[in-house]
Amino acid sequence: MRTKLWVVLVMSVVMLLVSATALAASQPLSGKLEIFSWWAGDEGPALEALIKHFEKMYPNVQVINATVTGGSGVNARAVLKTRMLGGDPPDTFQVHAGQELIGTWVVAKRMENLNSLYKEEGWTKVFPAGLVKLLSTSQGIWSVPVNIHRSNVLWYIPENLKQWGVKVPATWQEFLEIAPKLKAKGIVPLSMGETWTAEHLWENVAISVLGPAKWQQLWQGKISFRSPEMLEVWKLFGEILKYTNQDAPSLSWQQATDMVVKGKAAFNVMGDWAAGYMNTTLHLRPGTDFGWAPAPGTKGIFVMLSDSFGLPVGAPHRATTLAWLRMLGSREAQDIFNPLKGSISPRLDSDLSKYNVYGQSAAKDWRSSTIVGSLVHGVVANERFMNDFATVMEIFLNSRNPQAAANASQAVATQDGIIH
Ligand code: GAL
Repeated sequence: MRTKLWVVLVMSVVMLLVSATALAASQPLSGKLEIFSWWAGDEGPALEALIKHFEKMYPNVQVINATVTGGSGVNARAVLKTRMLGGDPPDTFQVHAGQELIGTWVVAKRMENLNSLYKEEGWTKVFPAGLVKLLSTSQGIWSVPVNIHRSNVLWYIPENLKQWGVKVPATWQEFLEIAPKLKAKGIVPLSMGETWTAEHLWENVAISVLGPAKWQQLWQGKISFRSPEMLEVWKLFGEILKYTNQDAPSLSWQQATDMVVKGKAAFNVMGDWAAGYMNTTLHLRPGTDFGWAPAPGTKGIFVMLSDSFGLPVGAPHRATTLAWLRMLGSREAQDIFNPLKGSISPRLDSDLSKYNVYGQSAAKDWRSSTIVGSLVHGVVANERFMNDFATVMEIFLNSRNPQAAANASQAVATQDGIIH
């Protein structure tokens, strides 16, 4: 009799627990979710589509799309730092895979380990191992990648080149040969914008001079920033700058792209968010209305970067953030975001039929090229170096002194731990 009573009691407790858990699981997710990024204005459509998709899945979650405008995150990163250090982290924030994540926020113990999320979603099998490595330390995996962008792309308008009788330069030497002819016609040979876009150009010039192996060695501290080849990089970069627009410091990357679109400039070196801008915002057709080629001297090389989102320690809305991250890594979400953004999905099972001809060609190159990481977009160096290098660049843009720039970059590389 006693045993029977016990059994009944235990059974009812178990049933109560089971139904409570079921109730919790069936309760729709609610609360807030603050997403912090620099995808504002012209850069916004892909993120907005992603948020729409999330809101359809979780109609009771209130999404706060917190953006700080400014290409490559120049302004957003400064605001983020103030918030993180002030104990006011957003729920999740845009951060580049590589040293911008690991050498900045992970070493400072500001991120939560996402190992179990990766395990539950089987993500170590669907994301390329090389990319997962950029998001990991021996302790864990620290963010979820939403895309792969290519930074070494030369953009142009085929029709304009035809009119001007100009071919796409395969090397910087070829560019320097045709540039004076363009200049004589009143056309800016290469458009450029504010300082970070000069750094973007610089890294592409550096990779063309050094090649992929030495570029990697530079970030492992194995090549001096004062070596003859680095001096050569600054010299060549200085030559190329002679053919850029005077008003570069006051232009955004979109305005530099606009110069090419409007026929004021012949070429622009920029990441493939420019393809997203020209196609999604300006409604130009890739392949016909605008063309592309590897940045001069970088054929067969894919300079990559990846935007990712993580979970900062102390995020106010942990549950909604985890739902966001889970969605972000899914095939469906990635194939909504990337065709609009100009990037590709890192997922090995991405549906390429959803991408335009530019995206499909980038996906093909991603699989067949030598891959190296971008400096300006956070892959190879920590934020301290990135910030200090921006100062070196500003000085160079004014002084045009290659030796001084080589010396200064060696000094900051030593100070910021690139050279041990
Ligand atoms: C990069 C970022 C891209 C794009 C670009 C221009 O750093 O990874 O997604 O936003 O800046 O702002």
